[in-house]
Amino acid sequence: MQIAIISDTHLAPRAEAFAANARAALTWIGVIAPDLVVHLGDVTVDGAFEPDEMDFARNIFAGRPVRWLPGNHDIGNPPCIPQSASESALSAEALAHFRSVLGDDRWIVERDGWQILGLNAQLFGLGDDEEEAQFDWIARMLSSSRAKLGVMLHKPLFRDGPSDTQEHQRYLPVAARRRLTALMDGRDLRFVIAGHTHQLRTIRVDGVEHIWAPSSAYIIPDAVQERIGRKHVGVMLLELTAERHEWSFMMPDGVRQNDLSDFADLYPEIAERLAHRVAAAR
Ligand SMILES: [Fe+2]
Repeated sequence: MQIAIISDTHLAPRAEAFAANARAALTWIGVIAPDLVVHLGDVTVDGAFEPDEMDFARNIFAGRPVRWLPGNHDIGNPPCIPQSASESALSAEALAHFRSVLGDDRWIVERDGWQILGLNAQLFGLGDDEEEAQFDWIARMLSSSRAKLGVMLHKPLFRDGPSDTQEHQRYLPVAARRRLTALMDGRDLRFVIAGHTHQLRTIRVDGVEHIWAPSSAYIIPDAVQERIGRKHVGVMLLELTAERHEWSFMMPDGVRQNDLSDFADLYPEIAERLAHRVAAAR
């Protein structure tokens, strides 16, 4: 099974360069014709505030076999995550709109000896019925199969491993992450693939490969984001065989290596932080 992985497209009519990159990536996807396309979230520039951006994204991906997952810019963050000015608290309206336009925000694919779970990362730590309903569903799916397991979601579980205890908006809230990993105990978990960081990275922890998929839209400059993995713009191809998974990073023709510094109008808070850094360095 071949799965094209695209993440953090940050689509909106006002973000032409990001839409151009998504179209170039889709041209490549059209050529390789994978069995499935997975979008790891941050579909939109700010769908939590501008729900029409989800419709815009759906139209760009029209005709592709896509499974979508929501990100912080699509539906917001749970209240336990420190909020920034450019992001909203989790919006029930945006989540409902996501589901109506892009489909289920959690899903399962079972094929060729694999069980792949797509999870809504933004519900972890929410502390409400939506979070509980997802945990119930995860527990049911996990107990229904002994197949090799792969997990896909917007945010990485952690930076370095299960002993990480620092809360950070880049990763799942710690308590919810522990509850999720406890549920997966005893299953043959092979990989976790997340977007969100706009960096390409892979680490192996206790036999599980944790993969950070890049953004197809832009990298975030070092002045406002720590460089942990590699900062590249592109997509990934995941291949699942009866024995193993393999991934490759792709920079399809026409995908430009955008830097967020050049698109400060889309995220004014980043522009402000960059300006502060430049001023402080003088
Ligand atoms: Fe994100």
